[in-house]
Amino acid sequence: MKRTLGTCYYPEHWPENLWKTDAKRMAELGLTWVRIGEFAWSKLEPTSGDLRFEWLDRAIDILGQAGLQVVLGTPTATPPRWMVDKHPDMLAVDANGNPRKFGSRRHYCFSHQGYRQECARIVTMLAERYGSNPYVAAWQTDNEYGCHDTTVSYSYAARQAFRGWLRSKYQGQGNDGDIDALNAAWGNVFWSMDYSSFDQIDLPNLTVTEPNPAHVLDFRRFSSDQVVSFNKLQVDIIRSYSKAPIAHNYMGGVTDFDHFKLGNDLDIASWDTYPIGFLEDRVQTSDDRRLTYMRQVDQDYQAFHHDLYRAVGKGRWWIMEQQPGPVNWAPYNPAPLPGMVRLWTWEAFAHGAEAVCYFRWRQAPMAQEQMHAGILRPDSAPAEAYDEAAEVARELADASEVAQCQSNIALVFDYDADWSWAIQPHAKGLTYLNVVFEAYRALRKLGLSIDIVPSTCRDFTGYRVIAVPGVMHLPEELSQALSASSAQIVYGPRTAARDANFNIPNPLPPAIEGLSATVSRVESLRPDAAIPLQGGGVLHSYREHLISEASVDLRDENGTPVALRKDNIRYLGAVLDVAGWIRIFQSVCATAQIETMVLPQGIRTRTTASERFWFNHLSVDVHFNGATIPAAGVLREPLA
Ligand code: GAL
Repeated sequence: MKRTLGTCYYPEHWPENLWKTDAKRMAELGLTWVRIGEFAWSKLEPTSGDLRFEWLDRAIDILGQAGLQVVLGTPTATPPRWMVDKHPDMLAVDANGNPRKFGSRRHYCFSHQGYRQECARIVTMLAERYGSNPYVAAWQTDNEYGCHDTTVSYSYAARQAFRGWLRSKYQGQGNDGDIDALNAAWGNVFWSMDYSSFDQIDLPNLTVTEPNPAHVLDFRRFSSDQVVSFNKLQVDIIRSYSKAPIAHNYMGGVTDFDHFKLGNDLDIASWDTYPIGFLEDRVQTSDDRRLTYMRQVDQDYQAFHHDLYRAVGKGRWWIMEQQPGPVNWAPYNPAPLPGMVRLWTWEAFAHGAEAVCYFRWRQAPMAQEQMHAGILRPDSAPAEAYDEAAEVARELADASEVAQCQSNIALVFDYDADWSWAIQPHAKGLTYLNVVFEAYRALRKLGLSIDIVPSTCRDFTGYRVIAVPGVMHLPEELSQALSASSAQIVYGPRTAARDANFNIPNPLPPAIEGLSATVSRVESLRPDAAIPLQGGGVLHSYREHLISEASVDLRDENGTPVALRKDNIRYLGAVLDVAGWIRIFQSVCATAQIETMVLPQGIRTRTTASERFWFNHLSVDVHFNGATIPAAGVLREPLA
């Protein structure tokens, strides 16, 4: 597969007499793709029904004639002002009951039927007009669903839709819902919360103390489904006019809708990677590490998302937006170390990205993102990233193909589990994403390549190690598929801790076939109360007391069991730090006969079908394993 580069361009931001030069310069730089249009609704339709597509016709033509392929975005993340006047109740509503006002973006509620119709209308017009345009080679729906905390809305429209969703979930006789089934599933008897009709059910915000977790989980599942159906509405329209592949650009660290479910309706997953912004803004790490790597970034966060979105895209994925220099939105916004833009780009290719597009072509002189670098400065002179993008373009022209292959190691990821941990964290700051991420980080530190797989995976053929951390509700079919595998499997913590309705199951968790173990009690720990493990590493935040006949694989400093082992199954009853996870995986990989190595600081690796990529995040060369990995650079080594 030929890997390609691209950029994000906003013709509507620039005088038309610049477009030709821009297009020519993009092509000269070696770019293939240009994504446009995703925020342009007010230029396409300045007032309701006044349609102005001619400028977009010309822009697509100019870009296409320069040899570029256009990714056309649907503009539904930025409904114009007149839309809000037309549908005042379309605004999303926050948990305090306040509408999220016009004046930035993503201010719509996914459940608003009027807004959905407006989206269907604009998408139909775009698809009709450009569906067979030879230059429109791909589509992007909307922009970063869920970004700015926008999946969940507590609006009237959401409440009505939630009631309908519940009615069909708790089906009774005939077509109507069975309210007694809902009361039983949620355990509403607990505080006299029983309902006698679906029309009495409200959204789970503004309650005096915490709402019923089962109520919240259903609301989170409903909210996710609303994003999926909103996206599908657009996809179905585009497909009826165009054969070009359809993508969405997901965001890093956004887990509040089921990306796998949404991704099933798309051809390509793409994601937007802002490594320095993420390190400052969303990676859970120490301040020391943040300081050390402030220009180089966290070495696993991008890779984690690459592997996640490869799974979401069922193998086909892109970077739709790659940070090219300082961003504007994190608490602090340092510039990357020279070389990092190239390193990030190659890292994405090593993980299987088909294309990497830089955000954005030229830095904007106006509005919210004035402080966000582009490939060009606002005066059109090349910015620092220009040369690095040019270097990658030259390398791609000469480089051998990057051939992907299945890894030995599967890491199961489950969005439903993420919501469940969030609803009942049990310890402040404890999140599923972080538990999974620490396991991932440990595997990477051991020099391993990982496939993230969805919890809907039913065939684990080819995997020798499967990690299933924290899938709080373990569906029966997944449990069976795992039991059928002869891989070494690591479960826990909190695996199978709740049934589908968020109740503690009986028999008690984890009830894993082949492992007779019971979690008899759980406790959470203050951040300063981590407990050392015998032999190194600590458990922190949360632990389970395990009763079992199985042998003990890991104990805390007092000799209390932390991990159990029976045949090919291990169960981990605590949240571990990375050092603790490393110990677990070293032992698991030894059993599975997978070679591991502890990588030096700053170094990461990824193995493809024919080569090993090495990435050095430090500003000095590193000698390791007989090779020199250049400072802030990449080394490609053919496999023996
Ligand atoms: C992304 C978004 C872009 C731009 C960028 C700035 O989240 O999709 O439109 O805002 O961030 O870093």
